[in-house]
Amino acid sequence: MKLFEPFSLAGIDLKNRIVRSATYEKRADPDGFVTDSLIGLYNDLARGGAGLIITGNALVHISGRSVPQMLCVHNDHYIEPLKKLTGSVHDLGGNIVMQLSHGGRQCFPSLLGGAQPMGPSAVYDPSTKITPREMDDSEIWEIIDAFADAAWRAFTAGFDGIQIHAAHGYLVNQFLSPHTNRRLDYWGGDEEMRFHFLSEIIEAIKKEVGGSFPVMVKLNSDDFVGGGLRPEEGLRIAKRLQGLGVCAIEVSGGMMEAGAMTIRSNIDSIEKEAYFRTSAAYFAKELDIPVMIVGGIRSRAVAEDVLHTGDADLISLSRPLLREPDLPNKFLAGKERADCTSCNNCMRFLKLDCIRCTQIKQATS
Ligand SMILES: Cc1cc2nc3c(=O)[nH]c(=O)nc-3n(C[C@H](O)[C@H](O)[C@H](O)COP(=O)(O)O)c2cc1C
Repeated sequence: MKLFEPFSLAGIDLKNRIVRSATYEKRADPDGFVTDSLIGLYNDLARGGAGLIITGNALVHISGRSVPQMLCVHNDHYIEPLKKLTGSVHDLGGNIVMQLSHGGRQCFPSLLGGAQPMGPSAVYDPSTKITPREMDDSEIWEIIDAFADAAWRAFTAGFDGIQIHAAHGYLVNQFLSPHTNRRLDYWGGDEEMRFHFLSEIIEAIKKEVGGSFPVMVKLNSDDFVGGGLRPEEGLRIAKRLQGLGVCAIEVSGGMMEAGAMTIRSNIDSIEKEAYFRTSAAYFAKELDIPVMIVGGIRSRAVAEDVLHTGDADLISLSRPLLREPDLPNKFLAGKERADCTSCNNCMRFLKLDCIRCTQIKQATS
């Protein structure tokens, strides 16, 4: 089974091709510090057999808080507690990468002490009914530095690499997308200009942690909004990232105002699975670096087929591992299909004490 063949990802030895896609946990304390509950979740994932675990989106700067009780990494006080998390995953033989994120216009004033969210341009978001304020030059450089400092903290805390969240309508995606970035200065205009924010982040990270620390990017292949990113530009962005030394691209899509494109419900047939497969295959054909496919993969056969056809190199799962953190081990033992029904009750995070599958009483210890 190709799914269980080892894979070397920029020096990280994966025992199989299964990745836990970044999934917000709502298990940090109110200030974003690691808790026992969070460590318990990651220990279950490490024991459950995933070759690589990517954390939920971790906050690089307080102006980018998009959800409550998210993991934070925006100052040095977070480093020591994070070492407990990485240490426990490593002790169990797992690999763990931290996803770095800033919510930009997809933040809510209630989580920003009443402040107006910011973004590259003042483009109204009909899903939140918020118009962000346009960032000025010094704020943009401050956030670039915040990503680089957060990468250094992740490195110091023992993470095996980082993933920049450049998808799903969050700040980096907002700069890349012609829909949300209407600037005509160094940070906007044509696609080369819109890429500057991300390229400056990557260059700043390399300066902080050196070129050998693995940097991955989660990228939209399609924003699914009028005037947004389409796969052709997404691929050109991915090629630029490859040129900058990024070691893997996770192919996703959608933003909040696009509706339910990122996390689709009722994946109840083989045909509905792997809903970004066409984009992933398009990227994989053209890139030399590994491509992770995410979105609706539920059965072992589909995962195997994706790998055999070369449509992706790694299989990334989110909701199935909320329901069954040990799904990789179960697949290895012969299980055919994940139990996750994509009911999306796990998305009702404001009602839940923590992110978990509501179909079972206790998803994790
Ligand atoms: C509860 C929940 C939280 C999520 N949090 C994140 C996140 O922090 N960062 C991210 O890039 N994607 C996040 N996602 C999206 C997933 O990583 C993934 O792209 C999406 O759920 C589709 O994959 P799936 O069908 O395997 O669930 C989240 C999804 C869910 C259901």
